[in-house]
Amino acid sequence: MASAALSSLAAFAERWADANTRRRIGRALEYAIVIGSTNERARELLVEADGDGVVVVADEQTAGRGRRGRTWQSPPGRNLYLSVALVPALAAVDAWRLGLATALAVAGACEPVARVDLKWPNDVVAAGDGRKVGGLLVETMVESERLRGAVLGIGINVNWLRSEMPADLRERATSLADLRGASVDREELLGRLLDTLETEVAAVEAGISPLARYRARCSTLGATVEVQTADGPLTGRALDLDSSGALVVEDGDGRRHVVSGGEVTRVRPAVSA
Ligand code: BTN
Repeated sequence: MASAALSSLAAFAERWADANTRRRIGRALEYAIVIGSTNERARELLVEADGDGVVVVADEQTAGRGRRGRTWQSPPGRNLYLSVALVPALAAVDAWRLGLATALAVAGACEPVARVDLKWPNDVVAAGDGRKVGGLLVETMVESERLRGAVLGIGINVNWLRSEMPADLRERATSLADLRGASVDREELLGRLLDTLETEVAAVEAGISPLARYRARCSTLGATVEVQTADGPLTGRALDLDSSGALVVEDGDGRRHVVSGGEVTRVRPAVSA
């Protein structure tokens, strides 16, 4: 079972190389059976070579990285772990748009398989119970005012069932296969994702903001949240995203806080009347 899954992703990479020479995202697809972190490899590609548009995908990561210094559990042959190396035609002040656009691309690719929402800023969650299906680690390289490069790191729990996850993770995570009630074709999902990324990145570079569409899919808005900010935890109601994608939270005293680099750790959904 595991070896069939492993070889199918490798075979996808081979087929892809023959058929997709005209595109930007995935103009080259670098496949690894096992790697430390696809983000690390994509970063190397940007530093060492003309890595723009190259995608690194692996069947397993031994040092998968999550946001805020966490690890990203990456068991072999079940999920998708990939990173896109980019030299974006984008001002550094607009770099935040890449994160929202990447989240929309992941949601769009997952859509035919399961209903997912977006949790601010970088999570893809199950519609309904909010368990995490995927996460993004977008890393940018800024020099002066210029965005010299970006790595769009994406991890999606595809066929790693909740029953196989460690107990602590099972509480807050799920997989597309769990949501669908059947296994999911990783290669089809990857193909769709490369297409949605192509579209979303092109739109951002053309000056089209992903903000309105992200807002519409963001289940964090309207919910009572606890956010870990640089100044400590903040509890309140998530009102909106401001024009730079930051979360606007109203605390119990009616004060508004704008949170740009935080992490929502707890969400109580909005109660409908
Ligand atoms: C998070 O939710 O904390 C972000 C998780 C991002 C994980 C992906 S897996 C592929 C890529 N390589 C990494 O080392 N991390 C990202």
